[in-house]
Amino acid sequence: MLAGKHVLLIIGGGIAAYKALDLIRRLRERDCMVTPVLTDGGAEFVTPLSVSSLAGGKVYRDLFDLTDEAEMGHISLSRASDLIVVAPATADLMAKMAAGLAGDLATTLLLATDTPVLIAPAMNVRMWTHAATQRNLITLRDDGVMCVGPNEGDMACGEYGPGRLAEPLEIVAAIENVLRDGLLKGRHVVVTSGPTHEPIDPVRYIANRSSGAQGTAIAAALVGLGAEVTFVTGPAEVPPPAGVKVVAVETALEMQTAVREALPADAAVFAAAVADWHVTSASDSKLKKQVGKLPTLQLSENPDILAEVAQMQSGRPALVVGFAAETDDVIANATAKRARKGCDWILANDVSPDTGIMGGTENAVTLIREEGADTWPRMSKDLVARKFAQMLAEALAK
Ligand code: CTP
Repeated sequence: MLAGKHVLLIIGGGIAAYKALDLIRRLRERDCMVTPVLTDGGAEFVTPLSVSSLAGGKVYRDLFDLTDEAEMGHISLSRASDLIVVAPATADLMAKMAAGLAGDLATTLLLATDTPVLIAPAMNVRMWTHAATQRNLITLRDDGVMCVGPNEGDMACGEYGPGRLAEPLEIVAAIENVLRDGLLKGRHVVVTSGPTHEPIDPVRYIANRSSGAQGTAIAAALVGLGAEVTFVTGPAEVPPPAGVKVVAVETALEMQTAVREALPADAAVFAAAVADWHVTSASDSKLKKQVGKLPTLQLSENPDILAEVAQMQSGRPALVVGFAAETDDVIANATAKRARKGCDWILANDVSPDTGIMGGTENAVTLIREEGADTWPRMSKDLVARKFAQMLAEALAK
């Protein structure tokens, strides 16, 4: 599946650079075109000649190499491939990428590109576990950079732990994963996410603790599989993912309108934590405190957007998925919710405060379908999203 694809391979300066040679060989065996870029550090470990012989072409070294600029400027070089792979990605390269530095050819290409980037880190275990490297990793992930490895094992420096470069075949598998023609290509999915804010007056509102993290991760995973995603988001803490059409809303009523306007769709995923009520007539001016007198807030029910879409008589998306945030009897409540709302699937989770799920990075979900409940092990919200997106893609393909 890599035949005809084009990878720009940046080889960082680490002892694991020798494995980059094997990686080139594995990619070439699969008829994948490889354009190598060798950093100065990388050149301390492997020679330009061996890299270019294996790649079957020129090895790029220097930002100021005028011949290269005449042949292909660094901007075009950064965008000519389907994927940029950094292997090994050293602690130094990761730090430079996270900081947006562009002092040499490799970092300039990484800053100038709009091509997906996959890094395969390799470094001493203490460097990998250092707070700075972990911080940089989070920044890079937030920037959309994908990561394979590092693996755990004996290190060249004599220590043991995480920091070994992923094996070349593991990197090839990760590349294949990224470059696979998306299972959801040509499919439109609407995703709602985040909380809603229901105004009381111009300065106060009713809200909830949803950060939008799970909805955002799901939208990103769907985009990763090639879907066209309309992302209808309330005022979430996390920014929307790259590659989606963002429709920002504040209230449940605005979210309902945005979802109606986003349809038709092949699937709709309702990850938003929509407020159940709004203040019937929010005040146009700030409510003033009156000593000894409490204001009365008259509430009206918000429309149930999920139920409305799930029960559409015509033009209903083929797959409608709801969420159930429960604190008790998760499976029983979520199963009842699925029937009540008329959706196909419910992703249920326990949001009791001691789980740390609401606003946290992990999730423990149970997927409720017609055939029953399937409880997944606790995992990162990203992993939940990827597993879910894959299942959604397979369901639509049936
Ligand atoms: N939902 C929606 N519109 C609403 C309320 C909820 O689209 N007005 C969707 C949510 O996005 C979620 C699902 O419905 O996918 C479940 O929401 P939840 O708030 O857990 O359920 P409720 O219907 O409010 O039931 P309960 O209050 O019993 O938890």
